Amino acid sequence: MAPTIEKTQVGIVGGGPAGLMLSHLLSQQGIENIVIEKRDHETIANTHRAGILETGAVKMLTETGVDSRVKTRGYEHEGIDLRFNGESHRINFKELIDATVWLYPQNDVFVDLAAARERDGGDVRFSCNVTEVLDHLTDTPKIRYTDAEGGEHEIHCDILVGADGSQSTCRRSIPKEDRSENFIEYPFAWFGILTEAPPSAPELIYANSPHGFALISQRNDEVQRMYFQCDPEENVDDWDEERIWAELQRRVDGPDGFQLKRGPIFEKVVLKFRSYVGEPMRYGNMFLAGDAAHTVPPTGAKGLNLAFADVQVLFDALKAHFIDGNSEGLDGYSDKALKRVWKAQNFSYWMTQMLHTRKDATPFETKRALGELNTVVSSKYGQSYLAESYTGWPHEN
Ligand code: DHB
Repeated sequence: MAPTIEKTQVGIVGGGPAGLMLSHLLSQQGIENIVIEKRDHETIANTHRAGILETGAVKMLTETGVDSRVKTRGYEHEGIDLRFNGESHRINFKELIDATVWLYPQNDVFVDLAAARERDGGDVRFSCNVTEVLDHLTDTPKIRYTDAEGGEHEIHCDILVGADGSQSTCRRSIPKEDRSENFIEYPFAWFGILTEAPPSAPELIYANSPHGFALISQRNDEVQRMYFQCDPEENVDDWDEERIWAELQRRVDGPDGFQLKRGPIFEKVVLKFRSYVGEPMRYGNMFLAGDAAHTVPPTGAKGLNLAFADVQVLFDALKAHFIDGNSEGLDGYSDKALKRVWKAQNFSYWMTQMLHTRKDATPFETKRALGELNTVVSSKYGQSYLAESYTGWPHEN
């Protein structure tokens, strides 16, 4: 059977937070769009992601009317603790640069955006598998997809957006000779847990120790999220609760006697990661946003925040294009977005290498890393550099 054919102004591949935020912003300006997403709502809602939103990400949710749960169920944090040599050093964002972040799970951002799209009559099609994107270099790029019942469809659009995550079909549709790939792998991964326990500390703790990195994060008063650096090939089944708690505790041990508050562990996962940037973020009339174009290691939780920053730049450009007939923004999109992407790549890489330990590290390297941490915490300027990057540079920059 011939595929059904529909037309829209912006065809968005990917209904995660980036795709839905773009769709939401476009619809508010009366710009038609259709979102195609491979997974179902339930799967995305239950895929645990990082838990920190930058000031700018919260501002986007607030200004577009999707903030009710962030503000009532999220927690505003005014700083973090950097812990090394068994001592905690508070980086007070509020005092240093008058900025904060919000602890709010990124999968809940998806739930909120999906609800807002449904409330506003948005066209978001879950469980639809994109088989091909084509005709990027023409005025009518196309998305071919199969719906959950096996029906075949084609969407003809003016602009196509690939917000389809790190395994992006859109990115792969760009001929190899027309894109460059920049990446590094890391010799470690994160072991993540969710536990039913009260918070161990008022704010997040990023800990460096001779046994490796640990991050003591939170979800709410009853559930906590924690991670510790592990081997990328680690098997979660080899870790019972006792072993996990002992490993986490020894990474935060110190003369202050700090103790983690323990509880039953109900999720265990090994998260592999790498740093990746595909350039440029445009191919003809197709534009990439978020993880489809770049991924960062998790230290510092930049992934979704960076995706939202892309979406802001892309939305401004699309608005100028469709409403004012001015395409300068679209022409400048890739360069503008990449400027921030590389800043965030640098920050995520810096935090990662500063806080993690390598198995083959020489005493020189270990002591140098402590020198680096001491440089940061002992100076108002060092602390402010971290604070600025962590809370996120203004979207205009
Ligand atoms: C969380 C994850 C991160 O990567 C981070 O830097 C901070 C918090 C989290 O899942 O809570």
